[in-house]
Order: sequence, then C-alpha cells, then structure tokens
Amino acid sequence: MRRETAIRVRAAKLEDARAIAGLSRQLGYPTSAPTIALRLRSVARSREHGAFVAAGPKGEILGWIHVFVHRVLESEFSAEVGGLVVDEDFRGTGAGTALLERAERWAISKRLSSITLRSNVIRKPAHAFYLKRGYRITKTQFAFRKTL
Ligand SMILES: CC(C)(COP(=O)(O)OP(=O)(O)OC[C@H]1O[C@@H](n2cnc3c(N)ncnc32)[C@H](O)[C@@H]1OP(=O)(O)O)[C@@H](O)C(=O)NCCC(=O)NCCS
Repeated sequence: MRRETAIRVRAAKLEDARAIAGLSRQLGYPTSAPTIALRLRSVARSREHGAFVAAGPKGEILGWIHVFVHRVLESEFSAEVGGLVVDEDFRGTGAGTALLERAERWAISKRLSSITLRSNVIRKPAHAFYLKRGYRITKTQFAFRKTL
C-alpha cells in the first residue's frame, strides 16, 4: 500500500543547499553544498528558472525539482525540467508527483504551453512515473558534450 506523508512544496532557499546537494548525489550528480548554493543564487535571480523543494512534516527536504524556460529558435518556447529527485527513503509517498505538478503550474504561469524533460534511458522507474502522468516519449537522441 502507498505510504502517505504530509508534503509541502515551496520555493527552494539557500538554506536547502546541503539537502539538495545530498539528493543530487542520489541522482548521480555529486555536488557540494556551496556549489549548489551558488547555482541556486543564480537561478533565483532569473524569472526563467524555478527551483522547488518538497518538505516533510518536520520540514525535512524529501526532494527537489528545477524547471526553466527552454528557448530555441526552431520551436515554440517551452518549459524544461532540469532535474527531479526524491530521497530514496521517501519514494512512493507522493513527493515526486507534487513536485512535478508544481513545475507544471510554474510553466503555465509563464504562459508556456508544453513541458519537456529528458531522462536517461536507464531510469526505467522514472519513465513509468512520467508516462503515468501524461508525458509521452517524443524522440530518442544522443547527448554530445565537448569540454572547453
Ligand atoms: C522518479 C521519482 C522522482 C518519483 O518520485 P516519487 O516521490 O517516488 O513519486 P510518487 O511517490 O509521486 O509516485 C511514484 C510511483 O511509484 C510508486 N512507488 C511505490 N513505492 C515506490 C518506491 N519505493 N519508489 C518509487 N516509487 C514507488 C508510487 O505508488 C507511484 O505509483 P504510480 O505511478 O502508480 O502513482 C523518484 O522515484 C526518484 O527520485 N527516482 C530516482 C531519480 C530519478 O530517476 N529522477 C528522474 C530523473 S529524469
């Protein structure tokens, strides 16, 4: 049976940096708290980015989501989820759904008509999660990178 917990989604604050860093490690992106704090500060200055956390009954951070306006010349501007992760001890309690819905509301508030997310092909449980929440796979692609 699905565990339920009282979850509050709110804008991420600098004080959340340590928790966000810990969860980023779970996502496979180990990052220090000071580095996250720097990025959060930059994101908070932009109206084109939103960062939110899901907090439990005692204020503990259960997960986070980052969403931003994706601007490319060839397509209509859309929202894109940059990252989403829920603490492995609290998965299945509704935090992921609450965070995704918050990102979608943020996108609507920016008058964007679609939201995109990219998910590594190995993240099978996440794919089932997104498909159940109305997301459809639009293409499969390679991600290229060059160190500069
Ligand atoms: C994908 C993810 C964000 C979903 O968050 P979540 O808080 O577990 O999501 P919810 O609780 O709202 O829903 C999870 C679904 O899995 C079910 N579930 C039950 N127990 C679960 C568990 N221990 N772990 C994961 N899902 C579980 C839930 O009942 C729910 O089922 P439904 O889709 O039929 O409603 C989370 O699993 C996660 O952080 N995964 C690892 C990182 C990752 O893959 N992120 C996405 C990158 S693109």
